[in-house]
Amino acid sequence: MRLRTLAGRARELGPRTVAAAGLTALLVAGVATAAALDATRVAVSLLALLLALVLAGVLLLNRRLLALRGDRRELRDLRVVLDATQRRVVSAVERQRLAADDRHRELTDALARVQRIADRGLRTVQHTVPREVEATVQLFQGFTPRAPMPSSGDYALNPTDLLELLFLVRSRRPELVLELGSGTSTIWLGYVLEQTGGRLISLDHEPEYANRTRAALAAHGLTGVAEVRDAPLAPVEVGERTFSWYDPAVLEDLDGVDFLLVDGPPAAVGPDSRYPALPVVGPRLADRATIVFDDANRPDEQAAIEGWLASDPALGREGELLGRHAVLTYARTKKTPPPQGDRRGRSQEPAVQA
Ligand SMILES: C[S@@+](CC[C@H](N)C(=O)[O-])C[C@H]1O[C@@H](n2cnc3c(N)ncnc32)[C@H](O)[C@@H]1O
Repeated sequence: MRLRTLAGRARELGPRTVAAAGLTALLVAGVATAAALDATRVAVSLLALLLALVLAGVLLLNRRLLALRGDRRELRDLRVVLDATQRRVVSAVERQRLAADDRHRELTDALARVQRIADRGLRTVQHTVPREVEATVQLFQGFTPRAPMPSSGDYALNPTDLLELLFLVRSRRPELVLELGSGTSTIWLGYVLEQTGGRLISLDHEPEYANRTRAALAAHGLTGVAEVRDAPLAPVEVGERTFSWYDPAVLEDLDGVDFLLVDGPPAAVGPDSRYPALPVVGPRLADRATIVFDDANRPDEQAAIEGWLASDPALGREGELLGRHAVLTYARTKKTPPPQGDRRGRSQEPAVQA
């Protein structure tokens, strides 16, 4: 049994080891035999050979052990590198996971925002479209235009606001309407004033839009009622501030304006672009006048109205009716002190210089 085990182990060894073991066994046997036969010289020679063989074996073993130690060191270094790489990979994966989490959260928030906007848009469409359609029907029931009516685009008063404006003009019957910012509203106002017997002057800082409105007035046969004036923007000083506003020179011949529609210049011209309207036009208003301020839902326009109300006791708010208009009343009293620099002594607005 032991012999078989030994044979099995011997098979696991390499041929060189087996040969060395065989040679050693032979030498040991030789030494023993020579010693037994009193052949001292032979025994010593064989012993010397045996020692040389053992020494060679020890040296070989030592070399192998050293190589093995080198391999182990290399293995250790490799493990350190592997550990560091693994740590880097894990932290990179973690970073990516956190970034993916952030992106997912941002995407979810953005989708929620889009949904809210879409819902708001839908609600606006559901409420606004029927309202504007109803207003349009009422507008065309009041007038039969003599030419195609220009569409009310982004910049024009919407049908609800137009309806309210025309109602105010028809019921208050102003003699002289001044419109700041011409367009579709000029044509509609022309039709009402044709019926009520008033006159309209409309200012436009853009020659292209002024020409378009003039052409539309001609097509509708309203040039006898309404006039569009080119009013290039000019620096206008009100108190301490300088605004870009319609050149006041184009207003010089106007007196007794009893209806003022403020729908220009557009916000793109600069901050508080409509603020100068009352300080500049104020001295040209009649003792009683109506002021309709469009886009009164916007912060600049609201600030302008608050500024006017604070600086001019002749001005009062009628309150918002439908849509985006603010309606104000100008009522000059005998107690109203004459304004600085006003040739007719009518308004309290801060001094204006063009
Ligand atoms: C608010 S818009 C006046 C709109 C006018 N009151 C109406 O209801 O039809 C003010 C100014 O914007 C300019 N404007 C009109 N339509 C425009 C457009 N589609 N794009 C850029 N500016 C426009 C014109 O110079 C106009 O005087």
